[in-house]
Amino acid sequence: MNKFITKSIITLLIVVFSAVLLTNAFGEEKTGKMDGKALFEQKCLKCHKNTKFKDLASDRKGWVLTLSRMQRSTCALTDEELDVLADYLSKVYGE
Ligand code: HEC
Repeated sequence: MNKFITKSIITLLIVVFSAVLLTNAFGEEKTGKMDGKALFEQKCLKCHKNTKFKDLASDRKGWVLTLSRMQRSTCALTDEELDVLADYLSKVYGE
């Protein structure tokens, strides 16, 4: 019986430990991913009004084209930021 209790306690500890590790891993992924909305407000609304984008609703491919045009001309964007923004814009200002 004692052996059973020891085994149970060890199993329980392993479960709790893994749960803590998993929560940490997911928490990090959440904060590691850039926030499309914040990025948009910070990068795009500097020069454009919000209403502009409502009229320009487009699918993801369209937004990628627009974003790379911005990237090449007026707006400093990394490829990763472009990707996050394309996701955000096609979700909020999609067709
Ligand atoms: C430094 C100022 C500036 C920033 C920052 C900027 N833009 Fe622009 N944008 C312009 C100018 C100037 C034009 C017009 C020239 C052109 O079309 O290339 C333009 C044009 C556009 C157009 C085309 C409008 C049309 O008539 O087809 C879209 C869409 C657009 N921008 C979206 C964005 C998005 C999305 C961002 C954020 C990643 C952004 N812009 C950031 C200055 C800016």
